[in-house]
Amino acid sequence: MNHGQNILVTGGAGFVGSHLVDRLVADGHKVAILDDLSSGARENVHKDAVLTVGDVRDSDLVARMIGEANACFHLAAIASVQQCNELWRNSHEINQSAFVGLLEAAAKRKTGVIPVVYASSAAVYGDTDVFPVHEDLPLRPISIYGVDKAGCELQARAAGRSAGVPTFGLRPFNIYGPRQNPSSPYSGVISVFADSIRRGKGVTIYGDGKQTRDFIAVADVVEFFVAALAKASPDAPVCNAATGKETSVLEIAQQISAALGHESRIAFTPARTGDIYRSVAATAQAEKLLGCKAGTGVEEGLKFIAKQGV
Ligand SMILES: NC(=O)c1ccc[n+]([C@@H]2O[C@H](COP(=O)([O-])OP(=O)(O)OC[C@H]3O[C@@H](n4cnc5c(N)ncnc54)[C@H](O)[C@@H]3O)[C@@H](O)[C@H]2O)c1
Repeated sequence: MNHGQNILVTGGAGFVGSHLVDRLVADGHKVAILDDLSSGARENVHKDAVLTVGDVRDSDLVARMIGEANACFHLAAIASVQQCNELWRNSHEINQSAFVGLLEAAAKRKTGVIPVVYASSAAVYGDTDVFPVHEDLPLRPISIYGVDKAGCELQARAAGRSAGVPTFGLRPFNIYGPRQNPSSPYSGVISVFADSIRRGKGVTIYGDGKQTRDFIAVADVVEFFVAALAKASPDAPVCNAATGKETSVLEIAQQISAALGHESRIAFTPARTGDIYRSVAATAQAEKLLGCKAGTGVEEGLKFIAKQGV
């Protein structure tokens, strides 16, 4: 990516978006953020980035901000599966319709189309018995959140075919790291456990704890996003953003306890309906398309969290 570009980051006050903004600013870009601060926070925003507090559903605002940008990273979303269940129509408008509005603005931009890199999700795969999960599998999302992310991928294809908008979609697995909000129980099992262990409360695991996830450090995810901008294309490529390593939830709880130096009580409660049992990603497509391989192991990532806070 050339230095000194004007880059729009939607959701740039959130967990992942704010780390991406830090990196883009450090690389010498001028960064504009659009975020309504519904789950993001002003404190997350780099001092040299310009925050506009607004809604990604506001098509005039989005068109204006896209008009001033040379590239866009779209991360704004209701990222909690539970919240999407509670606010079905509302989350659909934010997670999918607003993305359509953004693609339309990129397509109709007066001085030419710009590339859009967007956050899809591992949730597009839904329940599968093929492991590791690879990009050639059919999309079978089982949640409202996952269906909207799959819809975004289809909309990106349409934007490429019908209007020549170059896009790249990333399907992150379970991201962790500093600034993750512990009140989001689905996406942030590490931050929830760390927060609870810090308060001396121990942790509660849904199910037997042997369920696995592919945990990727936020710094690695940022690398995937940055690399994807140069590879955005009207063919609307997508790939996993993951490590390819499987870690059980019980192991994570034990490792967090060790990293924080706290003995902690682990309680088990019945598994939640809809929770998938195994999750691990194939990483070959990301290596091929982006040249990216997530390098941070969970143990190393957790040490970092213990030092920096969650
Ligand atoms: N965290 C994960 O493990 C994970 C995994 C897969 C995909 N993702 C995706 O990555 C992206 C970032 O996730 P995150 O974990 O940083 O979540 P987050 O909640 O921290 O960030 C989302 C940001 O979007 C903003 N936002 C929400 N609705 C908005 C609206 N209507 N208008 C403007 N801004 C709005 C929020 O205020 C927040 O700052 C999301 O698209 C999410 O679906 C996250």
